Amino acid sequence: MTQTQNGSSRRVLSDELRSTAEEIVAKYPNKRSATIPLLFLVQSQEGYVTEDGMREVGEIVGITPAQVLATASFYTMLKKRPQGEYLISVCRNISCTHLGARKVIQRLEDHLGIAAGGTTEDGKLSLEAAECLATCDGAPSMQVNYEDFYKVSPEEAVEIADKLTGGDEVRSVAGERVKTAREISYETATAGLRSPGSAGDQTGPVIGGETGAAVVTEGFRPKVTGVEQIDDATAEEDIAATGEDTSVSGEGDAPGERDA
Ligand code: FES
Repeated sequence: MTQTQNGSSRRVLSDELRSTAEEIVAKYPNKRSATIPLLFLVQSQEGYVTEDGMREVGEIVGITPAQVLATASFYTMLKKRPQGEYLISVCRNISCTHLGARKVIQRLEDHLGIAAGGTTEDGKLSLEAAECLATCDGAPSMQVNYEDFYKVSPEEAVEIADKLTGGDEVRSVAGERVKTAREISYETATAGLRSPGSAGDQTGPVIGGETGAAVVTEGFRPKVTGVEQIDDATAEEDIAATGEDTSVSGEGDAPGERDA
């Protein structure tokens, strides 16, 4: 049990998740690099990033709770207050607004009885008006727990919300099953442990979960192979041979004179 200045804080991660946290930490050359995955691990258990969870993460990676909070508050996928099992994000940027996003949001607000930013009483659904989801050609675009839905009408949005509330399976335009927020958080936290050919298969520390083992010794720079190294003198001779004026002292063409 951890004690804090303001009293006791409970340990958040279960024994199983605590050992998963240790596995994640072991993948990084610096423990603090595991901060974000560990916050997702907390979110996978608690439903959001709790204060106790942030303290525990700080303890594990050796940084202060304030530093953990500074990190957590930067990323919108890390929730600082309870949220629904499914987050419905409707884009409110230009393309989507022009093609009816406001009607989609309004209809969902009316149907669910919450304003954008809120969560239904049963804790099933949260609704948010999101910034551009980068699928403007599918406007009005919507996501449910980060799975895409394109050209969504108000009626379709309500239908999807009802299915989620009723526990029915919902699939995105890509055919992906929409997972719960906790599932998504766990997958995100452990991505580096599971990806074939990446961190999970490495025996030594690696950067992130997506690259092969890297040499991270301070001052090390990988050699670039296949590129001819040219020393400065040779480069200057080459430039002189072209007769180009490369001066930056104002002796070249004045603005507007070139090609006149
Ligand atoms: S403006 Fe809606 S996805 Fe880009």
